[in-house]
Amino acid sequence: MINLLALTIFSALVTVHGCGDHDGHVHSKRAAPYVALSPPSRPLEWGDINILHTTDTHGWLLGHQKESFPEPNYSGDFGEFSSFVQRMKAIAVQKDVDLLLVDSGDLHDGSGLTDGYPPGGVNGHESNKFVQQLPYDIMAIGNHELYVYEVAHDMYKNFVPKIKGHYLSSNVNITVLDRKGSMVSVPVGKRFAKFKTRKGRKVTAFGVLFDFAGNAKNTTVQKVADMVKEEWFARAIKDEPDLFLLAGHMPVSRNNWPLVFDAIRAVHPYTPIMILGGHDHIRDCVQLDGRSMSLASGRYMETIGWMSAKLNYRGSQRNVTFSRRYLDANRVTYKFHTGRTDASFDTFKGLQISRGVKALAKKFDLGYLFGTAPRDFLKYMAPYPSENSLLSLFIEEASPLASSVNNTRASIPKIMITNSGGLRFDVFKGPFTKNDKLTTMPFSNRWVFIPNVTFSVANQVVSTLNHAGADHRRRSELASELYALGDVEGRFAEWLQDMDRRSGSERRAAGNLTIGYVTTDACPGLGDDTLHAPQPFHSIPDFIGSRPPNVTADATVDLVFVDFIQAQLIGILNSLQKEKNYTPTDVAEYTALKTNEILGVYAQHAWN
Ligand SMILES: *[C@@H]1O[C@H](CO)[C@@H](O)[C@H](O)[C@H]1NC(C)=O
Ligand SMILES: *[C@@H]1O[C@H](CO)[C@@H](O)[C@H](O)[C@H]1NC(C)=O
Ligand SMILES: *[C@@H]1O[C@H](CO)[C@@H](O)[C@H](O)[C@H]1NC(C)=O
Ligand SMILES: *[C@@H]1O[C@H](CO)[C@@H](O)[C@H](O)[C@H]1NC(C)=O
Ligand SMILES: *[C@@H]1O[C@H](CO)[C@@H](O)[C@H](O)[C@H]1NC(C)=O
Ligand SMILES: *[C@@H]1O[C@H](CO)[C@@H](O)[C@H](O)[C@H]1NC(C)=O
Ligand SMILES: *[C@@H]1O[C@H](CO)[C@@H](O)[C@H](O)[C@H]1NC(C)=O
Ligand SMILES: *[C@@H]1O[C@H](CO)[C@@H](O)[C@H](O)[C@H]1NC(C)=O
Ligand SMILES: [Zn+2]
Ligand SMILES: [Zn+2]
Repeated sequence: MINLLALTIFSALVTVHGCGDHDGHVHSKRAAPYVALSPPSRPLEWGDINILHTTDTHGWLLGHQKESFPEPNYSGDFGEFSSFVQRMKAIAVQKDVDLLLVDSGDLHDGSGLTDGYPPGGVNGHESNKFVQQLPYDIMAIGNHELYVYEVAHDMYKNFVPKIKGHYLSSNVNITVLDRKGSMVSVPVGKRFAKFKTRKGRKVTAFGVLFDFAGNAKNTTVQKVADMVKEEWFARAIKDEPDLFLLAGHMPVSRNNWPLVFDAIRAVHPYTPIMILGGHDHIRDCVQLDGRSMSLASGRYMETIGWMSAKLNYRGSQRNVTFSRRYLDANRVTYKFHTGRTDASFDTFKGLQISRGVKALAKKFDLGYLFGTAPRDFLKYMAPYPSENSLLSLFIEEASPLASSVNNTRASIPKIMITNSGGLRFDVFKGPFTKNDKLTTMPFSNRWVFIPNVTFSVANQVVSTLNHAGADHRRRSELASELYALGDVEGRFAEWLQDMDRRSGSERRAAGNLTIGYVTTDACPGLGDDTLHAPQPFHSIPDFIGSRPPNVTADATVDLVFVDFIQAQLIGILNSLQKEKNYTPTDVAEYTALKTNEILGVYAQHAWN
């Protein structure tokens, strides 16, 4: 077994400042990363109200730990972020302005600290103990808080009380037993919050979730369009605050924010509205009018969002001056904007949190080594199919091999199918640990199958799902079905593709920029804090399949697929043949191995 931290961290604990004792000392400073990080391009523009924003952190509290670019750019851990917030709060006091901290949801699923819990545990229960130590003013619920009832209940029972009234779920309920033992549906957090900032500004805040359809039994997601018609909503917006703060797990450009915005504007045409969104994992900004701004701040602790507003006098109808910035989440950024040195940056609490997340990583054995990846396997940076493609690795190599282990059906020819959105992160050359296994494929979906499907039919399923033919309506229906279940990879990929198309080859060729996000959004001026060249982009299909077996057209095969896409798959199968009308009763479990175990089993067999 290998210690994750010793192996994979480039910004490791190596030097000790000011103590003069040996290494491994608990309050040693984190050394400058081995690779030099370029600093931000310019100072932040402070206003009267300023916001630091996180979203879709998915448990990446250890920071990004690989040396392949662009990973080092996002190497700040949650303790360093805590120090950053604390230092920025102090600067706000000095400037005599307000600084709020806001999160837009998805605290679960996607990293070892959330998903690597031992049997009997609950996803995110331990990692959220670090999140609750930060001075968040408003937090909103995300779809990843709702796939599993135990997770939603853990939020309700253990997390929400720690956030003291500022965890908001305006349109999300959970069903629990009340004192008398009867079932009641109640909001997970609060529906809204009204509070005063340090400077005495009145804020009315909401926490809204997009129209999510994949939530667990005994949780309820109300459509946004219905929420804004509720009487409680009308009452909550009746009095005019100095500012509406709309946090929520919805993309800022293409979704339901205008429903909430318009409902407020109908009553308060000029009150400033700051919207902090998320869920599509991109950096994005729009202004719905001259007195509001909407910001989305990326994913996985890669990006910290910044928004500021210079408020004019109350009742003014003039445009508000906003600024926004997307900060790369690393120590270089944090030191730059707080004017601190390595020696003066960390706070006591920040160091405590850094130690805490590392101790949890150790407790969860996240450094456990499955094998050594012989090269990088990339989702978008390599073409699919290819030997560097993460998708090829997963569906052509790893899934067929791992699902055959201990399986009585192993000798029967099969075709395996999954949605590419389940693969969330690249595999980089080098040690492949328990943490890597969980970041790459965090979802514990089941592999299920339909036996005896005619090969010539089974062999058309993937391309029909991806729509090689002409049925655009069905294709966009499928895409919106996946979207309603929470699969955002389509949007994220579009964003990557757009940045590569705009300036990819030109900026990479210039040779003076490192790889990272290059954002073009609808807000004025430059959004990115640090200038980068975009990563190369290759488009990938929504659905991927294993190599077809070498059998005749009329032979029968096992059609194996992840349960997440069952409804879509059965629909397609019935459209491809008329001999049998398939229903969910034709579907059985293929292997006890869950999707998030595949790469571990494969690495043990193939990479040792
Ligand atoms: C991004 O990462 C690369 C190394 O992979 C590094 O050279 C570069 O300086 C980083 N850029 C920033 C802005 O942190
Ligand atoms: C949510 O809970 C509240 C309080 O119990 C209840 O009045 C409301 O009807 C519930 N909403 C939904 C959509 O279930
Ligand atoms: C919903 O919760 C009630 C009360 O705890 C429980 O009896 C019921 O089985 C739950 N339903 C599902 C589908 O989990
Ligand atoms: C105010 O903002 C709106 C929307 O961004 C813009 O269309 C308009 O030109 C601005 N007005 C002034 C006077 O700047
Ligand atoms: C296969 O079975 C063996 C023996 O029961 C067991 O040790 C091993 O963990 C199983 N492998 C998988 C991938 O289930
Ligand atoms: C598959 O088909 C064969 C013959 O067509 C039949 O004997 C067998 O029972 C079928 N198996 C299943 C699992 O339906
Ligand atoms: C990078 O090089 C390009 C082309 O030579 C130049 O126009 C640009 O200003 C340079 N950018 C930086 C940040 O040095
Ligand atoms: C496929 O099977 C046929 C018949 O068994 C055989 O002749 C052929 O070489 C095989 N093709 C491949 C690519 O394995
Ligand atoms: Zn997310
Ligand atoms: Zn989400």
